[in-house]
Amino acid sequence: MSISLKRAPFVVIEGLDRSGKTTQTTRLYDRLKEAGVAVELIKFPDRTTAIGKMIDSYLRSTSELDDRAIHLLFSANRWELASTIEKHLNAGTAVICDRYAFSGIAFSASKITPTGEPALSFEWCLNPEKGLPAPDLVLFLDITPEIARKRGGYGQERYEKEEMQFRVRKLFQRIGGDVIAEKRDGKVNTTWEIVDAGRERDIVGAELWSLVQPLVNGVESQLARLWI
Ligand code: TMP
Repeated sequence: MSISLKRAPFVVIEGLDRSGKTTQTTRLYDRLKEAGVAVELIKFPDRTTAIGKMIDSYLRSTSELDDRAIHLLFSANRWELASTIEKHLNAGTAVICDRYAFSGIAFSASKITPTGEPALSFEWCLNPEKGLPAPDLVLFLDITPEIARKRGGYGQERYEKEEMQFRVRKLFQRIGGDVIAEKRDGKVNTTWEIVDAGRERDIVGAELWSLVQPLVNGVESQLARLWI
């Protein structure tokens, strides 16, 4: 009798607004289900919890919050689901997250003061994310601000402004570069893949599937923690 030590994979999809992230996440989820894979889809922010409702009202500009306070709420929103994610993975259910800690850092660290200085330092933004379950794979849907604009403009929520998106993209590139270097040096288990999301929807979807498919039969390594 053989005992399987495998757990289910943890996949995160990150990207800028207008990158097609939510559409692609749903497609990936449906495809995994069709392939008979047990899978849960989690979206951050999860606006259904008490913390999530505070985040939602901030994003819709019906409330104001200090930059540090909202950053910590986004992080707390992940921490309140961290043990659920871990339980799913150990029980053999794959988890797909639409946004995660990387969005948390990229968006908050992109905020600037009226004189154009960073409102919060990168390190300060990273700190509360330390110790969260580390994904096996991050799929970063990359899109230039020009293509995003051609896709029909941004929505009404806070942060959906072109100059903010421009800074967010740069920070995602920095975070991804760090994760890629840490993986190369054997310091993390997370693979960071940059996917050109400016292409046609089916082509992007096929590439995402080709990156996720090798993981569907389970992952040998124990679940790691982010940045510790
Ligand atoms: P959504 O459009 O994917 O629902 O995300 C809502 C906004 O919140 C989006 O502009 C990105 C931002 N965000 C943060 O600022 N910090 C976070 O931790 C997360 C998950 C999202």
